[in-house]
Amino acid sequence: MKKFTNARIYRQHDELAEILVDKGVIKQIGKGLPKADTEIDLGGRLVVPPYVDPHLHLDYVYTGGGKAAKNTTGTLFEGIERWHEVKKTQTPEDARERALKGIAEEVSKGVQFIRTHIDVDDPKLIGLKVMLELREQLKDNVTIQIVAFPQEGMYAYKGGDEMIEEALKMGADCVGGIPHFEWAREFGEKSVHRTVELAAKYGKLVDVHCDETDDVMSRHVELLNALVMMQDIGVRSTASHTCSFGSANDSWAFRMLGLFKKSGMNFIANPTENAYLQGRQDTYPKRRGLTRVKEMWESGINVCFGQDSINDPWYPVGNGNMMNILDNGIHLAHTMSFDQLDRCLDLITSNGAKTLHLEDQYGIEAGKPANFLVLNAETPFEAVRQRADVLASIRNGEYLFKRPEPTYDIKLDLFRKTK
Ligand code: FE2
Repeated sequence: MKKFTNARIYRQHDELAEILVDKGVIKQIGKGLPKADTEIDLGGRLVVPPYVDPHLHLDYVYTGGGKAAKNTTGTLFEGIERWHEVKKTQTPEDARERALKGIAEEVSKGVQFIRTHIDVDDPKLIGLKVMLELREQLKDNVTIQIVAFPQEGMYAYKGGDEMIEEALKMGADCVGGIPHFEWAREFGEKSVHRTVELAAKYGKLVDVHCDETDDVMSRHVELLNALVMMQDIGVRSTASHTCSFGSANDSWAFRMLGLFKKSGMNFIANPTENAYLQGRQDTYPKRRGLTRVKEMWESGINVCFGQDSINDPWYPVGNGNMMNILDNGIHLAHTMSFDQLDRCLDLITSNGAKTLHLEDQYGIEAGKPANFLVLNAETPFEAVRQRADVLASIRNGEYLFKRPEPTYDIKLDLFRKTK
């Protein structure tokens, strides 16, 4: 038995609480709990569920620095062209080494749950095979979900739809798509139909790169939402990016928000990535690249934030720091009322877990795995204002890491005498 004392549990206890853990599972939360063999004093710090990165490309990480990968225009479409070149040089050893480094970088910043899109427009399926192995090998340290993702199209890439089906048979968890990249709207729509058909056929989750463009005519999210609603798999489905929904007219958006709520579909925004990629054809004003996070959040539609890229042809400076993603996201989305600041950590924790459909294994509650973070702050507001570091990440009751609180020796002397 282990007991964590003096914890301020996010959105549960204003007062200090104790967390009793037995065999890696939370047995009880409260005050005056029975003594344990090991007692760890958390010193009144904020305890939150682990960070969830619901959208990351682990096969692309650290490919952004090479010559073939340099994206000179900063656009999504040049990123895809650059990746096409890099992909030709990929080996299993290289893919494994980079993915491991990317996972370690995220875990070191408090992430314990990752959904990764893996490009299956590859006859050798190198990235997928590597990731299926890592998902199993690392499951005690980090939970990984894999999306079979056709980066170069389901139809724009010859045989892309067949590669997705093969990936699902091999064990991918989710069906992906990229309808705005297909060569005509008709093929984009066909790809959305195929995505939902495959999800229903194989009992998989859905996560589509949907309308990642400023083009207001890109409205595949409407079809995706309708199809998952008809199949009654809305809560098992996700629309990622939906940047064009941020530029859509208010009348259509109002209608859609009602339908999104009805379907229960989840939304993932990638604030830093899309702030970088979108608005590139705008002069001024330049768009922010973000979907309607504020309106979704306020109307009860599940929305969360993802990192998307760690140093790849689409975005050079991602580092797996979800607090940085949250910081950028709440600024870009105008979601910074005091009430929102008190609960915006949901956008990188529980809302992500809901998107990944992980409710049975996620959350600081009795009966669930003892997975949580200790932040270097005492309140949610201070955690966000200070962009608080993660002091410890605990998984199944054991430390994944812990680090000391930073100390500084700064002497401010306003009355320093000068000679
Ligand atoms: Fe992505």
